[in-house]
Amino acid sequence: MEIDDHSKWLTRKRVDNYLSKIDIIPHRSEGESVLLDLISKKTKRILDLGSGNGRLIKLLKEHGHNAEFVAIDFSPYMLEELSKQFLDDTSVKKIKHDLSFPLPSNIGKFDVVVSSFAIHHLTNRRKKGLYSEIFMLLKRGGIFCNLDHIFTDSKHLNTFFRKKMGHKVINKEHNKRLTKLDVQLDWLSDIGFTDVDCYWKWLEFALIIGYKPFR
Ligand SMILES: C[S@@+](CC[C@H](N)C(=O)[O-])C[C@H]1O[C@@H](n2cnc3c(N)ncnc32)[C@H](O)[C@@H]1O
Repeated sequence: MEIDDHSKWLTRKRVDNYLSKIDIIPHRSEGESVLLDLISKKTKRILDLGSGNGRLIKLLKEHGHNAEFVAIDFSPYMLEELSKQFLDDTSVKKIKHDLSFPLPSNIGKFDVVVSSFAIHHLTNRRKKGLYSEIFMLLKRGGIFCNLDHIFTDSKHLNTFFRKKMGHKVINKEHNKRLTKLDVQLDWLSDIGFTDVDCYWKWLEFALIIGYKPFR
């Protein structure tokens, strides 16, 4: 039986393939660098959704963040890689959870919620639901940062993007879950986030930001 594109993360092959290319995804470090600069060093608790092997957490630590981190992912292989990366580091807690379902209710509140290249795997309905749950989990004044793959209506931009990424074939299964930037910004504003905007963009990659108002 053919497994769907998203469930492939539950296989060693997909995880190894991604990790072998993790550092050569074009321009991602530019988006990550804007994200890192936006997060205060005084931050106490950070949640990473679809954490993978903990790339973003490692970058935050290298950037001087001494927060408590909670990493959520549904792939046992990714979580295994994350555990290897933070062997004796008690500041990183991992939770195996499928983001297609509501977030666990017992994880507490966070100053910051981050995610990179993970939320686009969810359906539109679930993305919007997750954004509402993130709003509830954030402390007042908290920030949500989603560096992700977005949908474009422009065939020209999509062709150029695929060329730059070295993608020879169109992965229709993957692309059908992508969501337009303006749609996602509207969802965040409707939920109650403020200062919602795209703080960085390269072709189909965007850094989407929203703050939970102080009151
Ligand atoms: C492209 S990787 C990105 C990993 C990491 N955030 C990074 O930037 O390197 C996508 C990650 O999302 C996770 N993921 C995809 N769908 C998920 C779901 N429904 N629930 C939890 N994690 C999911 C995968 O297991 C994988 O670790």
